[in-house]
Amino acid sequence: MAKECITTEVKDNILIITFNSLALNGEVFTQLNAALDEAEAYKGVVIQSSNDKIFLAGADLYELDKIIKAGDKELAREVIQRGQDTFTRIEKLRVPVVAAIKGMALGGGCELALACDYRIASSDKNTKIGLPEVNLGILPAWGGTTRLPRLVGMKEALTGILAGKLYAAKPALRAKLVNEVCHPEHLLTKAIAAAKKKKRSSKARSWIPNAVLFNVAKKNVLKKTNGNYPAPLKIIEVLKESIKVSPKESFEMEQDAFIELCFTDECKSLLRIFFMQETSKKLLADKTKPQKITNAMVVGAGTMGAGIAQWLTSRGVNVLLKDVNDESIDRGLKQIGSLYVQGVRKYKFDRPAARDGLTKLTSTTNDVPLNKTELVIEAIVEKLDVKQKVLAEIEKGLSDDAIIATNTSALSIDDMAKGLKRPERLVGIHFFNPVHQMKLVEVVKGKQTSKATVKKAVQFVQQISKLPVVVKDSPGFVVNRVLVPYLVKAAEKLSDGFDIESIDKAMIDFGMPMGPFRLMDEIGLDVCYHVAKDLEEILNIQSDGVNVLEKYINSGELGKKSNKGFYTYKKGKAVRNGTHIDGTPIARLLVDEMVLESKKIVKENVVEDGDTLDFAMIMGTGWAPFRGGPLYHSKNSLTSV
Ligand code: NAI
Repeated sequence: MAKECITTEVKDNILIITFNSLALNGEVFTQLNAALDEAEAYKGVVIQSSNDKIFLAGADLYELDKIIKAGDKELAREVIQRGQDTFTRIEKLRVPVVAAIKGMALGGGCELALACDYRIASSDKNTKIGLPEVNLGILPAWGGTTRLPRLVGMKEALTGILAGKLYAAKPALRAKLVNEVCHPEHLLTKAIAAAKKKKRSSKARSWIPNAVLFNVAKKNVLKKTNGNYPAPLKIIEVLKESIKVSPKESFEMEQDAFIELCFTDECKSLLRIFFMQETSKKLLADKTKPQKITNAMVVGAGTMGAGIAQWLTSRGVNVLLKDVNDESIDRGLKQIGSLYVQGVRKYKFDRPAARDGLTKLTSTTNDVPLNKTELVIEAIVEKLDVKQKVLAEIEKGLSDDAIIATNTSALSIDDMAKGLKRPERLVGIHFFNPVHQMKLVEVVKGKQTSKATVKKAVQFVQQISKLPVVVKDSPGFVVNRVLVPYLVKAAEKLSDGFDIESIDKAMIDFGMPMGPFRLMDEIGLDVCYHVAKDLEEILNIQSDGVNVLEKYINSGELGKKSNKGFYTYKKGKAVRNGTHIDGTPIARLLVDEMVLESKKIVKENVVEDGDTLDFAMIMGTGWAPFRGGPLYHSKNSLTSV
């Protein structure tokens, strides 16, 4: 018997359709249509999900991936048609249909809700509604591109679809994407009450043609993507035309655009990244449910320690934050406080959740009993002898099954383990800066790190909703090892007469989020210099770039933090003078530098395979996602740029 993707029940003469499946595939559509066959026998319909965190995650991407790989355009068209027809059927039912949204309503999930004639969102923190298709290189083609502008207006729809924006309940209400917000406990009752009312007329918003809106959107997209992504441009084109025609004609446009986009290289690369994220989320998973870590200690309340402590407390972990003096603790607490304020402002969580997170935080400058601590994360200064001393001291008070992690950027885990009685429980858990934004975490396995410790570290990273990659203890691990030779090479090119902005521009054109000089200024030239010095010998980096960095540091130019580095900063913004030459040949050389180092890393088995390396570079540095990472790019293109 086929799995019950959908169950139905009747309450107060209202048909309640419950999704038990998170994604919409052929079988789910069949069962949904069977449920809809009975809908008009009742006074109204409520659509909900049995999952607490996900209302509906959208189209089944595994199904889509197969179709794309087979190059089957006809089947792709059928899949789109099936979704459009089903959702139009919901829209046209003679009885009211209410979407009771609790948890994520993404892509197809949101499109289904758009076809209902009333939407109520739960106010809980998991509820997010939106059309993130653009992030996969496609557009919402199950009616989303047609229905959203008619519901919320073109300006909001353009912004929402182009950014792949996910609306929390309150912003969704403000945007008129939902009609009502309520406490999760009242969701079903409210939805049933709404389904008992009269069918609402689906009046589309009136639309005054506004060419400026589309021109501005196009300009912004080109600025952001350098024209490297076809999907946002196509979305603008379809939205612009679709509003002028009937919904039926607009659905056809959506469909054609989808078929055009889903077979592009960009879409294939973005889907590959999506699947790699899924792999990372399930890494080392087995049948036993991982034991959650509830009590952690973070040592060092600096940039990283404070960032880590904030993230952990926001994910429900009790954190004891330790530093050497009150000033450092105060600075760390201030950073944590402002991260929480920022999070509330950006609807990452609501006020009660932020308060809850803050109550999980305690701080100290003293030695305290550690018998309840399950994990220690060390984030103190990058000096081997200091770290060794601190770790050995901590180990004394720890219970037997606790593990110790270091956030070192480049020091050897094996060296750090030397002073420990039980080196098998030391592991690297390397977060990236800023912690609340960067999803990647390198889990670094030393020679003596036990399998159980690696597994605990990986599961912990997953527990706090970050994406782990396991890497072998080796200089710079993966991300810094690929980045450093690239950055140093860029600095070297300055003495060859190339200018900063031309090189930065060429790398942005290639698809990087920022050029190497802006990146070095962000990191701090002193930090870059020290990491480069550490790696210079081991990686055999022979480059004048290190001397270039030294010169800047000696003149007190440390990058953004000192308002001067490669760029001058006014109110935190880099002052630009414009590019002078074509930096493309340099960009090609710099990309080759990264590809070369990446190949060495894989050959030395620092990571399991090339996919893991590509994934780490994309998630850890924003490496041109549409090119699929350095190795995928080098395999799939004849020229680097
Ligand atoms: P930071 O200089 O901002 O903070 C270090 C903190 O450790 C200071 O508050 C200091 O008072 C404290 N500290 C020093 N000795 C201590 C001890 N014995 N006990 C307790 N606290 C002590 O440094 P940041 O940037 O936060 O770096 C920390 C670690 O994270 C380093 O190993 C660094 O390599 C690594 N890292 C840094 C990244 C960055 O972008 N800044 C990125 C990833 C890793």
